[in-house]
Order: sequence, then C-alpha cells, then structure tokens
Amino acid sequence: MSVTVRVPAKVNVRLAVGGARPDGFHDLANVFLAVSLYDEVTVRPAASLTITCEGPDAHQVPLDRTNLAARAAELLAARHGLSPDVHIHIAKDIPVAGGMAGGSADGAGALLACDALWDLGSSRSELLAICAELGSDVPFSLVGGAALGTGRGERLTELAVGGEFHWVFAVADGGLSTPAVYGEFDRLNEGVEVPDPAASPELLDALRTGDATALAGAVANDLQPAALSLRPSLAQTLAAGTAAGALAALVSGSGPTTAFLTKDADAAEEVAEVLRSSSVCRTARVATSPAAGATVL
Ligand code: C5P
Repeated sequence: MSVTVRVPAKVNVRLAVGGARPDGFHDLANVFLAVSLYDEVTVRPAASLTITCEGPDAHQVPLDRTNLAARAAELLAARHGLSPDVHIHIAKDIPVAGGMAGGSADGAGALLACDALWDLGSSRSELLAICAELGSDVPFSLVGGAALGTGRGERLTELAVGGEFHWVFAVADGGLSTPAVYGEFDRLNEGVEVPDPAASPELLDALRTGDATALAGAVANDLQPAALSLRPSLAQTLAAGTAAGALAALVSGSGPTTAFLTKDADAAEEVAEVLRSSSVCRTARVATSPAAGATVL
C-alpha cells in the first residue's frame, strides 16, 4: 500500500514585502502562480520515519527531520495520536533552494499523502492550518493555481487566471538562503519607511484576462535587489533572458532561480535554448502556469 502525490513549483509574479515584524517575519502581498514543474511524494508504511530522494539535485536535499516532508508527517500524526511510521520517497524535479518552493511542495505533498494513507479524511482547512505551521509558502503548494498570500504569505485568497502563461526558469549553481535574503532586504532598507505591501490592480487584471504582455508590465519582486546584492551575477542572467526575447525577467521568490515570461511556447523554447548555451546559468527549464495544486495520483 502506498500513496503518491504530485505537487507543483511556484513563481511569485508580485512579491511585495513590508517592514520586519516583531516576530522576525515580514508582512507580504505575495501573488503566487503554480507552474508545471513537479515533485512527486510517495509514502508507504514503515518501521519508522525515513526519507529517500531521487533526482539530479537529490544530494542537496536533507534526509533528516528538518525536511518539511518529515515534519508534515510528524505534525499530522501528532494531531491524531498516531506514530509517523512511514517511508517518504521524494522524486525531485523542482530546483532545490531556488526560490520555487520545492521544500514547501514536499511538505504539502507528504501531508496530503499521509492523510490518504492513514485514511484520516482531514478537511481542507485542517490541512491548510498544518501547512501554515510548516512554512509561509506551504499552504499555496497545497492549493496551487494562483493566489494572493497575505500575512507572512500563508493567508490565501484564490485568484482567477484567464489563460495559460509560458515561462522559462534559469537554474543557478547553488541555492540562496531565504532568511539571508530577507536579512539583506532589511539591511538595504535600513532607515527607509517601507510601505504597506499591496498587489496592483493591473497585475490582478492581467492574470484574470490571461494577457502575457500586461502581466510582463506588472510583475515585480521586492526581494530582487537583496538577491542581486547577495548574488550579483544574477544581473547577467536576467539580461541574457531579456536579450533572448523574454517579455519580463525577474528573480523567483528569494532566488537564485530567475524567471522569464514569454509570449508563447515557441518563444519559451527559444529563450531556454539561448540560456542553456550561455554561461549565465546551470540549466534552463520551460513550464506553463497555472498548474494544479497537490494532487493524489
Ligand atoms: O515561513 P518560512 O519557514 O518559509 O520562512 C523562512 C524564513 O524566511 C523566515 O525564518 C524568515 O526569515 C523569512 N520570512 C520572512 N517573512 C515572510 C516569510 C519568510 O521574513 N513573510
């Protein structure tokens, strides 16, 4: 008996960051879009909680209880007085530590998979509460599609998307630590009055109408200056994708993955080919959005 769940990566088409809160987090207006790069999380009964991972970046994935998939199994089991005795296998295709919520995806995937394996029938709101406890981006990995995240990003309002968007993701060598990027954001904004974070009506309209050109004019990531400050070479990656014909170029979340919006699938293939044959990234992947949230296969 095993259960497999497929979970998407995300890109933030608007990541508006407010000032640091007393709890160390930042208030956000975070417009998430799920993209068609997926991890698959499989759980089966075992003598104790163990994790394995396969995929090109598997060696970078922690296989201990710091992995969000393990923490998800533990939290769900604890709520039901169970012992989290499962083997979790992650088939990893989402770039690791790349700002695409790969770790969050595995947390949401393991949660949904264990809920099915243990036949708990948890409600959506119970699962979302556990997701929020696991991390700010984990609720969105469960929900997928498109959503505005407020609070620290965990309070979601689903958004309508009127068409398919085509993306290229340039995968960098090595990751960037999310807390380090937020720390750099604070350093760069020292003494600055940071406005309350908000998503623009233009951006929400562009999503609703499925208009790639309008979306390209509205995307923005407030963490981008901090990511570029910590990894200046990302400026060359962004410039290379723009020169290759992308409509928009931005750092994905806290980076270092960079995201390029293109007008159609052919343009995405062209931009990806140019990036792959350049020295500005490790590899480039094409994907579409929106993608479905965590799904039992
Ligand atoms: O919620 P999560 O565990 O993914 O957050 C990782 C880190 O990112 C936090 O410890 C914090 O440093 C930073 N963060 C933040 N504000 C947010 C989300 C994350 O400062 N809204």
